[in-house]
Amino acid sequence: MEIFLRLRTLLKPVSFKTLFPGFLDKPLIGIDLGSYAIKVLQFKDKKGNLKSIGIYNFPEEALTGKDKREYLVSGISILIEQLKLKQKEVAICLSSRHVVTKRIEIENPQKGEIHSLILSEAERYIPYNLEDVHLSYAPLRRKGNKYEVIIAAAKKEIIAEYIDMLKEANLRPVVIDVENFVLANAFEACYGIPEKEMLIIDMGATKLNMVGISEGIPVFTREVAMGGIDFTKEIQNKFGVSFAEAERIKIEGVKEKTEEEKLQEVFLKVITRWFQEIKTAIDFFENTTRKKVRTIYLCGGSSRIIGLKEALAKFLAKTVYMFHPGSKVKYNPNYFDPKYLDYLSPQLPIALGLGLRTKADV
Ligand SMILES: Nc1ncnc2c1ncn2[C@@H]1O[C@H](COP(=O)(O)OP(=O)(O)OP(=O)(O)O)[C@@H](O)[C@H]1O
Ligand SMILES: [Mg+2]
Repeated sequence: MEIFLRLRTLLKPVSFKTLFPGFLDKPLIGIDLGSYAIKVLQFKDKKGNLKSIGIYNFPEEALTGKDKREYLVSGISILIEQLKLKQKEVAICLSSRHVVTKRIEIENPQKGEIHSLILSEAERYIPYNLEDVHLSYAPLRRKGNKYEVIIAAAKKEIIAEYIDMLKEANLRPVVIDVENFVLANAFEACYGIPEKEMLIIDMGATKLNMVGISEGIPVFTREVAMGGIDFTKEIQNKFGVSFAEAERIKIEGVKEKTEEEKLQEVFLKVITRWFQEIKTAIDFFENTTRKKVRTIYLCGGSSRIIGLKEALAKFLAKTVYMFHPGSKVKYNPNYFDPKYLDYLSPQLPIALGLGLRTKADV
């Protein structure tokens, strides 16, 4: 098994696609193994026609407990059964904290030489014994006689855990991607290649995942261990309620005026921490690219927090949009409720990016 990057300019290996047209074009089932919810998305074809979509929210004990494996296996199995999915081949991704990536330049490579060059570069940059990792690379672009290549390495033991877990759910991962690249690919599939510097921020339950794109390429990434669960926990403390009740308050709000003020205090406390981290990341991105970030796109369940988008735009003095893949997916409204898709949309980019992968990618 190889972790497999797919960037726009990836030179595809020769595949059997031309011998068996259609077969290898079949999209894989995209599974986003989030910490709060598993999201599944499957396309009918490469044109982006939706076949199935589903979400499984973990029970509370899975969110607060340590060992999640059993919940993951049963959550995936429940979703696959509910959606009546027959296909076994899936695409998943690893969070960037499990993957070491490095962009390198190779000058004037000769045919057949690239692999050994990559290996010797990887020896220098990957902080593990190469025997213990799965290594993958993809050409990014050509600059004169230089090739810019991205190398990714993930520990074999981590990949083995995922394979094993999916096997238990009776599935087979054909593609294991890197979350940041999936996000960038999903964005590109929905909105085209961004011409200007921009940042995507996936606001999940346990992390803020930022991907900076410059000259159409994801060149910057930062994962901060903060997310929607912090907000729920702060509400829990301030209001003295259960986790479930705090989650409800966060999503539905409160009625009493005094309670509203309390909630606003929590909101400000939490988002101030998030915004500081985002600002630091943007400063770094802008300093390294020497270009200003023009726009920011938000996704992830926590981007639904009312007032957050506007507060961030004001704090950064930048334009902030919602990354809204639901509006880009083609579907039959007789089978899928447009309102449901619209609601789910901010949580979908990763599953969508993975659902775009086919067997031919391998
Ligand atoms: N309407 C809403 N208002 C505020 N928060 C919300 C809303 N809907 C969902 N959330 C929060 O979004 C989070 C779940 O989002 P998402 O599915 O993107 O996370 P995840 O992918 O499972 O987590 P991670 O990426 O951190 O592993 C939860 O913290 C949930 O409470
Ligand atoms: Mg997520």
